[in-house]
Amino acid sequence: MDEVVALCKRRGLIFPASEIYGGIANTYDYGHYGVLLKRNVTDAWWKAMIQERDDIVALDSAIIQHPKTWEASGHLAGFSDPLVQCLGKCKKRYRLDHLQEEAVEKGEDPALVKCPTCGGDLSEPRAFNLMFQTNIGPVQDEGSTVYLRPETAQGIFLDFKQTLNYARKKPPFGIAQIGKSFRNEITPGNFIFRTLEFEQMEMEFFVPPDEAEQWYEYWCQERLSWYVKLGINPERLRLRPHDAEELSHYSSGTSDVEYLYPIGWSELEGIANRGNFDLTQHAEHSREKLEWKDPQTGKGYLPHVIEPAAGLGRTMLALLCEAYDQDDIGGETRTVLRLHPTVAPIKVAVLPLLRKDGHPEKAREIYTALRKRLSAEYDEGGHIGKRYRRQDEIGTPYGITVDHQTFEDDTVTLRDRDSLTQERVPVEGLVDLLEAKINA
Ligand code: GAP
Repeated sequence: MDEVVALCKRRGLIFPASEIYGGIANTYDYGHYGVLLKRNVTDAWWKAMIQERDDIVALDSAIIQHPKTWEASGHLAGFSDPLVQCLGKCKKRYRLDHLQEEAVEKGEDPALVKCPTCGGDLSEPRAFNLMFQTNIGPVQDEGSTVYLRPETAQGIFLDFKQTLNYARKKPPFGIAQIGKSFRNEITPGNFIFRTLEFEQMEMEFFVPPDEAEQWYEYWCQERLSWYVKLGINPERLRLRPHDAEELSHYSSGTSDVEYLYPIGWSELEGIANRGNFDLTQHAEHSREKLEWKDPQTGKGYLPHVIEPAAGLGRTMLALLCEAYDQDDIGGETRTVLRLHPTVAPIKVAVLPLLRKDGHPEKAREIYTALRKRLSAEYDEGGHIGKRYRRQDEIGTPYGITVDHQTFEDDTVTLRDRDSLTQERVPVEGLVDLLEAKINA
């Protein structure tokens, strides 16, 4: 993990936020290549959920909702975790459940956990709500309290009726959204695995109650295969059903998609069968009818909900850990991110062999043509080998080099990041060739 973290910082993908002030725990910024990678992941999710289907519609709901939302959802009363404080030297606070999970992962007794920083004894646990609280307006009284959403899901339930009114959908159908959520996480470490603010990719799939089980199974398989398509080795992916004590108050069945991170098997995404809990709760608290009514028979029912809820940061971390590799080229160690071309921030780098003899001009001409359709980068600074290493470290799958021969036969070399093969290809048709390789 340390090597991945160092690479992300060195190449400007992901780095600690507020670093000039010493940083802020569990908070990271995404630089240029990190932003591009992130967008490629959300695009892939959006494509799978919206573009390639006609039974899911899109939503972008507010981060600050009416406070009753969190009363109805159970987050105000129940979204708390046992907090313990070190009674030894360091006095740090931790979430007991996180310490216990780590102990189980290491094969230790979770009942005997100690402070991971100084080894001191821990206090008795006390409840701690994970929602960030703020106020609307200048007066900080109870009536002005609002919360930053701890999940994107609730906005979808609030807009269920509105969506039915315009979207011309009937169950089974889904509503998908991607957006930031906020949780007052106090357990430090593990890079972007657990952060205070994080993007979720959530979809609520509303189904007739008697079809819930079959849709739950369906979404578990769909979501697993999505990660494989993004380049995750299936051997480092598993579906782990929750046992009865682990189930959330709303769920009659949940499975986690887990990835074998360097920190051990950990949750990448949760897929829950939420029954009609949320619609029932919001109907009761808002006094709105949140049924689906069959226009032919006039009969209504509350759909059940299957929810695949993924985290963007955790997906990024899994992709980065999966892609990180080192090999040996001519006795030198090369660090490379073997990212799937679909998610790679830059698809192709265009490099002139020399900074003279018309190489830069020709390379720029090719680059300008390529970047109309692909995320491309032009680089003429430094030795060609160094420029390749740089692209290898940010996961660029293809490199194009303009050299003397280009001026003789209008061809360039095409270098493959993984096999390191170099082939001569014509400049004409280059973009089609690259697109075909990327989408293969
Ligand atoms: N609506 C259901 C829900 O929010 P969750 O299991 O609490 O379920 C879903 O969250 C996903 O969001 C997780 O699987 C994880 O990928 C991501 N996630 C949750 N808390 C996170 C945090 N503090 N930092 C980064 N990602 C987080």
